[in-house]
This record gives sequence, C-alpha cells and structure tokens, in this order.
Amino acid sequence: MPEKSNARKKVLFIVGSLRKGSFNRQLADKAAALLSDCDVSFLDYRDVPFMDQDLEDPVLPAVARVRGEVAAADLVWIFTPEYNHSYPGVLKNLLDWLSRPADPADRKSPSVLRGKPVMMSGAAGQSAALHSRTKLMELASLMGMELLHGTGTGVVLGREAFMSGLLTPTPEEEQELSAQAAELERL
Ligand SMILES: Cc1cc2nc3c(=O)[nH]c(=O)nc-3n(C[C@H](O)[C@H](O)[C@H](O)COP(=O)(O)O)c2cc1C
Repeated sequence: MPEKSNARKKVLFIVGSLRKGSFNRQLADKAAALLSDCDVSFLDYRDVPFMDQDLEDPVLPAVARVRGEVAAADLVWIFTPEYNHSYPGVLKNLLDWLSRPADPADRKSPSVLRGKPVMMSGAAGQSAALHSRTKLMELASLMGMELLHGTGTGVVLGREAFMSGLLTPTPEEEQELSAQAAELERL
C-alpha cells in the first residue's frame, strides 16, 4: 500500500460473476456501502476475450483498459462465486490477462498485479465460497499480489436466497464483512 495519506483510497471491485442478479454483486454492493471513506469502482471485463497468446501484442483496447484500471487502484477487492470448489473461469481468464507483463515488448516488465494489495469475499452454498477463496488466495499469491485479510469473508446462500434471489447475510456474516471493510479503511 502507498504511505497512509489523507487522499481517498481508490478501491477496485472485481465480481467473478457476469450474472445480472449475482449474489456476489449484491455482496459487493454491501461492501461498497461500508466504504464511505474510499472511492469504489467496479471493473467491467465482459469485453476481455479468452486468453490467446496470438492476441497479446499489440495490446487489445479491452485488455489495456482493464490493466489501466487495476494499475490506478490502490487496492483490489474480489468477490467470487464458487464453481465446482473453485473460482469461475471468467475470473481466472481475467486474472491471466492481468498477470502478463504490462509491456508485451518487454518480457521482464512487471504485471499490474505484482505487489497490488487484494482482499477477497464470496457468496456460495454451504462452504460460503471457502474452497474458491482458498484457491483464489493461492493464485493471487502466485501472481505476486499482496494478500490482506487471508481468505476474507463469506456468505452462505441458503434455500431462501435461491428462492428470492436476494442475498440475506446473517448478523455474523454482516459483522465479518464490516470488520473487513473497516480494516481496509484503516490501511
Ligand atoms: C458450474 C457451477 C458450479 C457450482 N459449484 C458450486 C460449488 O462447488 N459450491 C457451491 O457452494 N456452489 C456452487 N455453485 C453454486 C454457485 O455458488 C451459486 O450459483 C452462486 O449463486 C453463484 O454466484 P452468483 O450469484 O454471484 O452468480 C455452482 C454453480 C455453477 C454455475
């Protein structure tokens, strides 16, 4: 993290679900509401294609844009669903693009993820996305990100959530999310 200053921190949210009614997007909205001292923005990465090394150079506009948004952020907060005990492919694809050298002509240029502080949270079934968050933590570490708050926090999606489409965290889950947001604001 940069030296603590009075400037508002720029926090970039990445939601690992493209679904309109995404529970993880609802969780991210809750977290955003808790970060009154930060400037929060959401990364739109729908236009980033599947990784194809033939497309790496010259850098595609969509790839340049997402790299620019990550580079400009002080911190990234990822909200991940759990697909078959792991993070979704769309999220892995995005992170693969972001993990490549920022300058394709210079293989040694650091990626925009290197040294970038990251937090994570997730909403899923009984595991509260813990499998997914644990694997994401390993991936983020491999990519050189600075991990904050370990595997982060999770929300269990019960039958009611799936019936109503609404995320309804328990008071304990709300409290954990608030503590995570407070830790971020203290940085
Ligand atoms: C392909 C696929 C695999 C899934 N595997 C798991 C799983 O292993 N564990 C789990 O808790 N939920 C699993 N789910 C359920 C998702 O976690 C759940 O649908 C969640 O709402 C997705 O997040 P979203 O609402 O943000 O899109 C799976 C869903 C899909 C589509």
